[in-house]
Amino acid sequence: MQNVSGKKIILGISGGIAAYKTASFVRLLIKAGAQVQVIMSPASCAFITPLTLATLSKRPVYTEFEKSFGEWTNHVDLALWADAMIIAPATANTLAKMANGLCDNLLLATYLSAKCPVFFAPAMDLDMFIHPSTKSNIQKLVSYGNIEIETAFGELASGLIGQGRMAEPEFMLNVLNEYFSKNSSNDLKGKQVVITAGPTYEPIDPVRFIGNHSTGKMGFDIANEAANRGANVVLITGPTSLKTNNSQIKVQKILSANDMYQACHDVFESADIVIGAAAIADYRPKTVATQKIKKNDEEFTIVLEKNPDILASLGAIKTHQFLVGFALETENEIEYAKSKLKKKNLDLIVLNSLNDKGAGFGKPTNKVTFIDKDFNIFPQELKSKEDVAKDIIDQILKNYAK
Ligand code: C5P
Repeated sequence: MQNVSGKKIILGISGGIAAYKTASFVRLLIKAGAQVQVIMSPASCAFITPLTLATLSKRPVYTEFEKSFGEWTNHVDLALWADAMIIAPATANTLAKMANGLCDNLLLATYLSAKCPVFFAPAMDLDMFIHPSTKSNIQKLVSYGNIEIETAFGELASGLIGQGRMAEPEFMLNVLNEYFSKNSSNDLKGKQVVITAGPTYEPIDPVRFIGNHSTGKMGFDIANEAANRGANVVLITGPTSLKTNNSQIKVQKILSANDMYQACHDVFESADIVIGAAAIADYRPKTVATQKIKKNDEEFTIVLEKNPDILASLGAIKTHQFLVGFALETENEIEYAKSKLKKKNLDLIVLNSLNDKGAGFGKPTNKVTFIDKDFNIFPQELKSKEDVAKDIIDQILKNYAK
């Protein structure tokens, strides 16, 4: 099996004669088991037709921001969908625009939104290729973390001989295969991982609820990381606009803490690891009005009753499951986190303090401290939530092995 098998690849085609080779590249990718979404710059359509590529990729090809009347091609969604993006051929013009953040077509807007690794295969005549501005654009793109697929030496469309030919489709496929083989760690293969994420909404009446500011990002990042490392993931999430980037994740949407309680218990027996990253409401309105409540009185009181503590309830019945909780504290952080770890019968707790800059709700970064069952304390640096997710999985595996 090739490493690109099952991977979602965006192929961005810009307007150069080498575009004709992308037909065989798409065929190779599809044969290798990849899913391919082709995005063409308007100029590239003069070199190869979208119909050819749509037929070979078995998907519609996107060329414009507007798909059909009133329907918008969402470049952000496309970019999030992909495991890798490859721009081939990357003309001097497209490279210059990429290097400078221009996005006057769908291909460029998708590139600017991409979170996945981006490969680019330059293709142009030799004088354009050795021009200092092209060289500096390529250097700039590489310095941003993009991966250059080097040009080949040989006959060019102009008839001249030199450097500037786009790499052959077989070569580009090898580059992608090698990349995915290096980056595929399967250390959670075969494990059932249940993750809770997001806020809960506790209904007051048919139109109102008590909620909180959780966006669910930390839980979604952990789910993506676990799935990318081979786990079977069930993500039980409260309301959020986030999407997962791995199609293997089973997403179960819930609203209230009681729904989440039920969903967690339904899957607990078959779980190996449970990570509670959700911000679950501690209380819910004792009674839920069946009709919208009218604003008749000057004061209005809602009586709240306690929600079940989901992790504690799982901790009380766990057999083989490894349980991970979060603690968000504002004072006596370590002591409170330790007592939560014990009280809920957890194996690991991830502490984040609101006193740390860059940690907490809605932030792209987090600074956490791990505390294990034996009260060993592992403080971490401030990192992106994606990197914190990696650290959490690494720490779980270290403790799990014990
Ligand atoms: O007790 P506290 O709410 O601070 O604990 C936080 C941890 O417990 C988080 O992992 C959260 O997902 C989980 N939790 C839970 N059920 C609740 C409240 C919190 O599972 N009702």
